[in-house]
Amino acid sequence: MQASPGRKRLLNSPVGQESHLANNQFVAYDATCTHAGCQVGYDAASQHLICPCHGATFDPAHQAAVLQGPAGTPLTGVPLHVDASTGDITVVS
Ligand code: FES
Repeated sequence: MQASPGRKRLLNSPVGQESHLANNQFVAYDATCTHAGCQVGYDAASQHLICPCHGATFDPAHQAAVLQGPAGTPLTGVPLHVDASTGDITVVS
């Protein structure tokens, strides 16, 4: 999915984490950590999703793959739709 840079608007979002990747793609994941359910947050410095509870780290550029445990499975993906004419991004239900 692609949209013009700077036109990102995530609409009707459930609790989740979205990222605008360096390749101009947008991705979103359920923010619930797969280890014990804490809410992960985006770390701009590393460009990873990090859980504050026990330090699990996920890579949003690679389907939220686990980079560091204790989580053993990736975050759940949230499908998005990008309107090419407006730049609006919506969660596909
Ligand atoms: S709940 Fe996220 S690492 Fe434990």
